Formats: sequence, C-alpha cells, structure tokens
Amino acid sequence: MNLPINENGLQASQLIYGCMGLGGGWNRNSIQPEHIKQAHEVVELALEHNINMFDHADIYAFGKAETVFGQVLKEDPALRENMIIQSKLGIRFPNEDKGIPARYDFSKSYILESVDGILSRLNIDYLDVLLLHRPDALMDAREVGEAFHKLKDSGKVHYFGVSNMSAGQIRLLQRYTNEKIVVNQLEMSLDKIGWVETGVHVNQIAARDNVFPEGTLEYCQLENIQLQAWGSLAKGLYTGVDLGNASENVKNTALLVQKFAEEKQVSKEAIVLAWLMKHPASIQPIIGTTNLDRLQACTEAVNVTLSRDEWYSLYVSSRGVSLP
Ligand SMILES: NC(=O)c1ccc[n+]([C@@H]2O[C@H](COP(=O)([O-])OP(=O)(O)OC[C@H]3O[C@@H](n4cnc5c(N)ncnc54)[C@H](OP(=O)(O)O)[C@@H]3O)[C@@H](O)[C@H]2O)c1
Repeated sequence: MNLPINENGLQASQLIYGCMGLGGGWNRNSIQPEHIKQAHEVVELALEHNINMFDHADIYAFGKAETVFGQVLKEDPALRENMIIQSKLGIRFPNEDKGIPARYDFSKSYILESVDGILSRLNIDYLDVLLLHRPDALMDAREVGEAFHKLKDSGKVHYFGVSNMSAGQIRLLQRYTNEKIVVNQLEMSLDKIGWVETGVHVNQIAARDNVFPEGTLEYCQLENIQLQAWGSLAKGLYTGVDLGNASENVKNTALLVQKFAEEKQVSKEAIVLAWLMKHPASIQPIIGTTNLDRLQACTEAVNVTLSRDEWYSLYVSSRGVSLP
C-alpha cells in the first residue's frame, strides 16, 4: 500500500490494530497483570502478521488502554521502531461534581496538554499520527493550526489527521495549517454502508436517510487522505454473534459471508474486511478484537480478493433493497 503515513522507512500495514478493548475496559478499576499480558499477546500476534499500525485514543478505557500499551513498550522497547502509533484527543469526560457535561475540546491548550498525557501513558517520545477524535462545535481552525505547528516543531507529533469529519471540516482545518491532514477515520463496514450509499443515491429520494457526509469519500481520495474504517467488524454481526433478533437482511448477509468464506477457505472475518479493502480508496480497516483467535482470523483478509460480483452481492444483501 502507498499510504501517506509511512514512518521511519516503515510501510503502514493495510490492517490496523484498534486498541480500544485493551486495559481492562471502561471502568475505574486498576490495571491488573492480566491486562498487560493481554496487551503483550495482541501486539505480538499483530506484529507477527505484519500489522504494524496501532490505533489509540486518550479516552479508551479511561486512559488504561494507552497505559497497558505503554507498559508493553517499556518491557520491550525494541518494538517501538517497528510500529506506527496513532492516538486521538478532543473528547472530554463529564465533571459531574461541577455539573460539566461530556464535551469536545479542540482548544490549543487542551490539545497540547492531551498530547503530553498520551506520550506519557504510551511511554513514547513522539506520536506518528495524531487525530482529532470528533468535531468540536467550537473548533477554531486557526487555534488548531497553531497547536499542530507547535507539536510538529517540538517533534512530539509527526503527522496529523482527523476522525469523523466531513470534507468541509477538513478543508477548513487545512486552510489554517501547513501540516497536511493525512487521515480521516470514519465508521465504515458491511453494516454501516452509508459511505457507499451516498455515492449511489445521487439525485435519489433515498439519499434523505443517509447521514454519511456527501463528497467526503471522494475528497479524501482526491487529497490523498488515508481513510480508516472503525467498527469494521460490525461488532461480529456477520462473523458469529447471535442473530436471534437481527433483521432478515443481516441474517441473509451473514449467510452470504459464510458461503464466500467456505468457497475461499478463509475466515468470515476475512470476507467482511476484504469487502472494505476492495474499494479503490484503499481503506484501512481497524480491527477492534481482543480475542487472539479472531485477530488471527482477521489477518487472513490481506490474502482475499473479492470479485466485483461478490462485492456487489454483499452490498446489495446488506442494504436489503436491490439496485438501481
Ligand atoms: N474514531 C472513532 O470515533 C472510533 C470509534 C470506535 C472505535 N474506534 C477504533 O476502531 C477500533 C474498532 O472499533 P470497534 O471495536 O467499535 O469495532 P469492531 O472492530 O467492529 O468490533 C470489535 C468488537 O466486537 C466484538 N466482536 C467482534 N467479532 C465478534 C464475534 N464474532 N463475536 C463476539 N464479539 C465479537 C469484539 O469482541 P472481542 O474483543 O471479544 O473479539 C470487540 O468488542 C477500536 O478499537 C478503536 O481503535 C474509533
């Protein structure tokens, strides 16, 4: 892959390991040795399968996901040079005592302070890529630009990107920074198909119900902004979770995924991820599993190429309504 985020001579892998599940979960309990062991195991398995990019956010497991990952790097510092590490900031937890709600914050001071926290938890000197997690309604692009420049000059961050942003928002940011926005991370999967629907619905009434920002996929392709897919496994919807209450579309799509997996003698996860990877935008799916068998199953995706007919069969099955 020719990604704009190649670091230290490293080529970013097409699959990214998503670290949200590390650290013992969304609770305030302390980190246990088993959480560090788990982080060691997933990192080792990912690297063994040439997955060298790792996705974090400062909020994951209330900071514990970064902390256990940092512990892995402390115990095995040589791993760092084989990794491309990205993290996100900008979501703030509520402060219930003071009556302050959960909110977004892209102020310069909060960005700078958050990066210091990220580097300290991860036990690293620099982040390969820093993403703004979700759009801040009060975003002052000029202020964000200043923060980016300061982080770049200090060597704390090498590349910058965004998450859950529209083309318009990225263009606004780009206007105030010389740093190229290199990533946009969005929810995209065989279940969340808005990113495809927005293209095929042009000039159709069905476009009404689609929340995926129109033109964003194309803008990212045009500007060489790497698209990353979060939720890429659709939380196991087509690969093993109980479908007792699921819709007919989901059940039919799960059967189709299974059929292709059997025909190609690969895992169902590989089919679901290969569906995303077939798109010419060269999407990087982020895999959020902490289960080693499932992670192993996901790694098979890089060897699968779906035909056009197979890709469309899965897409039409998921949307549940035939084209055109
Ligand atoms: N930018 C953003 O706003 C944003 C938002 C959310 C996530 N992310 C990133 O994207 C990554 C992936 O997102 P995600 O975790 O929401 O989505 P995901 O990769 O679609 O799903 C992973 C989750 O689904 C479970 N799962 C998968 N297959 C399963 C199966 N067959 N049976 C039972 N459970 C199954 C996993 O549990 P096990 O661990 O047990 O396998 C895990 O909890 C995260 O780690 C994070 O790095 C970014």
